[in-house]
Amino acid sequence: MTPAASTNNNSLPYTISLIPQTEEGLQFYLNNYVPFRLRMLQLSPEAFSSTYSRESSFPPSTWRARLFNPHARTFVAANRQAAEQPSQVVISSLTLVLAADDSSRHGPDEQELEVSNWQVNAMFTLPEARGRGAARGVLEFAEDWAVRSNREWQVENQEAPGARRRERQHVKFSLAVMEGNESAGRFYERVGFKKLGKEEITGGVMVRWYEKRVGGGSDDGI
Ligand SMILES: CC(C)(COP(=O)(O)OP(=O)(O)OC[C@H]1O[C@@H](n2cnc3c(N)ncnc32)[C@H](O)[C@@H]1OP(=O)(O)O)[C@@H](O)C(=O)NCCC(=O)NCCS
Repeated sequence: MTPAASTNNNSLPYTISLIPQTEEGLQFYLNNYVPFRLRMLQLSPEAFSSTYSRESSFPPSTWRARLFNPHARTFVAANRQAAEQPSQVVISSLTLVLAADDSSRHGPDEQELEVSNWQVNAMFTLPEARGRGAARGVLEFAEDWAVRSNREWQVENQEAPGARRRERQHVKFSLAVMEGNESAGRFYERVGFKKLGKEEITGGVMVRWYEKRVGGGSDDGI
């Protein structure tokens, strides 16, 4: 695992990290993240578009492909010492997925850099670990990672011969909340997301979109 960026100091110690796309990361993903993911789908079926019955039959090769997806990264808060079972190690998590550039959704002036437009998926904290800042911590860690990645991408592409300078400096995070999940909506507004006017039907369910922009200040150094 990559070095932890954050260790909390309350009665449920956890560290926050990105699950690396390596063989070591895959072991952690299969042993600890997958049981957490299946528990999430069992405990909050109304919050997610996938189902426990679908994913519980995935072979390891499907999980491997998910972890190594070049367009996705999974971040976790993990409690490695105190957990008694593998399914209790990960206490909170989210996955960032590169969002397609969709000008019909975001407006014609929003031609984002690919690396600056992420969708937040699968945000979940185990019920027994809620209210301790884990989801906020994972989200802020993921936001910092995305802002750093965006800066690195811009530096590399500015230096490439003949590359056109791209001006977009902020990173946009968007997410969809299922109709009726008012609790999640309140959480996202608490951690800085704005509710968009847009609602749409996805997989037969009405969802409401939220968005947050990070970075792009004058001190960005780019
Ligand atoms: C939403 C969820 C991820 C929050 O996890 P959590 O670890 O308890 O959240 P945190 O402790 O990090 O809370 C961060 C902040 O949000 C606030 N908050 C958390 N849940 C909230 C809620 N339901 N309503 C309003 N505020 C909330 C906290 O008070 C805290 O505020 P503060 O930092 O200003 O003190 C968790 O409740 C969950 O897993 N819900 C079920 C799954 C789900 O709906 N996921 C979203 C799918 S779109």
